[in-house]
Amino acid sequence: MSDLKKTESQSGLLRRFWHSVFRGPVYPRDDSDRKLIVLSHLLLHFRPVRLPAKNLRYTHTWGLGGMSMTLFFVLAATGVLLMFVYEPSPGYAYDSIANLQTNLLFGKLIRNIHYWSANLLIVLVTFHLIRVYLTGAYYPPRQFNWVLGLLLLFCVLVSNFTGYLMPWDQLSYWAITIVTGMMGYAPFIGEWLQDVVRGGTEIGSTTLVNFYATHTTVMPALIIVLMMFHFWRIRKAGGVVIPRSPGEEKEEKPEQALTLPHLLLREFSVALVLIAFVMVLSVVFDAPLGEAANPGMSPNPAKAPWYFLGFQELLIHFDPLFAVVIIPLLGALGLFFIPYIRYEKDTSGIFMMSREGRRLGLVAALTALFITPVFIVADEYWIDWDAWMRGVSPVVSNGVLPATILGAALTGYCAFLKRRYSASNNEVVQFVFVLLSVAFVILTITEIWFRGPRMALVWPWSL
Ligand code: HEM
Repeated sequence: MSDLKKTESQSGLLRRFWHSVFRGPVYPRDDSDRKLIVLSHLLLHFRPVRLPAKNLRYTHTWGLGGMSMTLFFVLAATGVLLMFVYEPSPGYAYDSIANLQTNLLFGKLIRNIHYWSANLLIVLVTFHLIRVYLTGAYYPPRQFNWVLGLLLLFCVLVSNFTGYLMPWDQLSYWAITIVTGMMGYAPFIGEWLQDVVRGGTEIGSTTLVNFYATHTTVMPALIIVLMMFHFWRIRKAGGVVIPRSPGEEKEEKPEQALTLPHLLLREFSVALVLIAFVMVLSVVFDAPLGEAANPGMSPNPAKAPWYFLGFQELLIHFDPLFAVVIIPLLGALGLFFIPYIRYEKDTSGIFMMSREGRRLGLVAALTALFITPVFIVADEYWIDWDAWMRGVSPVVSNGVLPATILGAALTGYCAFLKRRYSASNNEVVQFVFVLLSVAFVILTITEIWFRGPRMALVWPWSL
């Protein structure tokens, strides 16, 4: 076929593809129609042909899972481009990034897109987790997919963390020093874990090579496998959970809509808007690049990457064993077991379970909004467990004691809610989920904007 004819038939194919997207199916008349059908079949190979019409409602999922996947692909594409210029060795890493930013056409833009997509991915995956939880999408048959999601979240965090070191500037060097330092607090395995992650006792060339290999190969491969598993489980569960209002029974035979065009068109539009947003962000705001790493001079304050700052804030208030081992471990176990708790009812699809659930959720958020800052300020200026309990091990005075008091207060509060509002198990667990999530967000915000030199509390404008 001549080039001209080829272009004509391809544009015809595209036109008819969009026609089918907007107006419905096309039946094969000629060769290009057949190609169109193959293309549709290819797309539908990954998706069911129909889906419950109610699941098309954008405000049901907010497209958060799909947006996370889109960002993963943006990261992979820009990451491959960055690999052409980046050199993973302490002597060259910083210069290769600086060179990329100043001497290569679109180098800075590519780096900015990679940077903003990576940070946005953490935010979107977290929002996705919250949406999944609040719409009760973790009850059977979706429990295991919740666990797969948690593994994905873990991989996204490790990817981001390992990528953080790549620029080899002061910010990244000291952030990684702090987080790997935190690992050392783990009982029995702390030192060993720290050495494995650092590839020795100090952060140096082995650390950089380890992080580079993990960041560019191990994590992307793991994420792809986990994503495929995640999507397959969604299909096995018959699609995403169907939304319903409190009191509304599950529909046996919900009204159906065609995936092509209805769902795919929506997903495609969301992906385009997201990419446009990332582009604007990347044109307007540059990814940070400070001074080259100087192992002899720590900045003050030295902070972990922003997504670990909640734990760094906990470190100010609790003994390290509690701040970076026991509390995060309990949090992770709590998240892991959410689908396996024995609940009184299946509230899947109902946003925040019930009217009572919504009210209690609001109470939880307000309680955390009030209590967390009060706790932070009180601990900064008035509470001094170590001085009040001289001679007692700090693990007890600064760990067991405050953790027991807080745990007992939370348990008592939950028991009170259960009696006062006849709350179900489901509603009490949701109450704890909302309360702890909001508290963690406030701890993170405090550490980002309200901690200055020597980690003292300061106003953000004086930082
Ligand atoms: C890289 C990370 C992730 C990606 C790319 C991803 C992708 C997706 C996509 C595309 C969906 C379909 C519906 C939607 O867009 O919301 C979905 C659903 C789901 N995700 Fe994720 N996800 C990720 C992380 C997580 C996390 C952290 C969790 C929770 C711990 C989770 C649990 C679930 C569950 C249970 C469903 C089924 C939801 C339903 O039935 O309504 N996912 N995910």
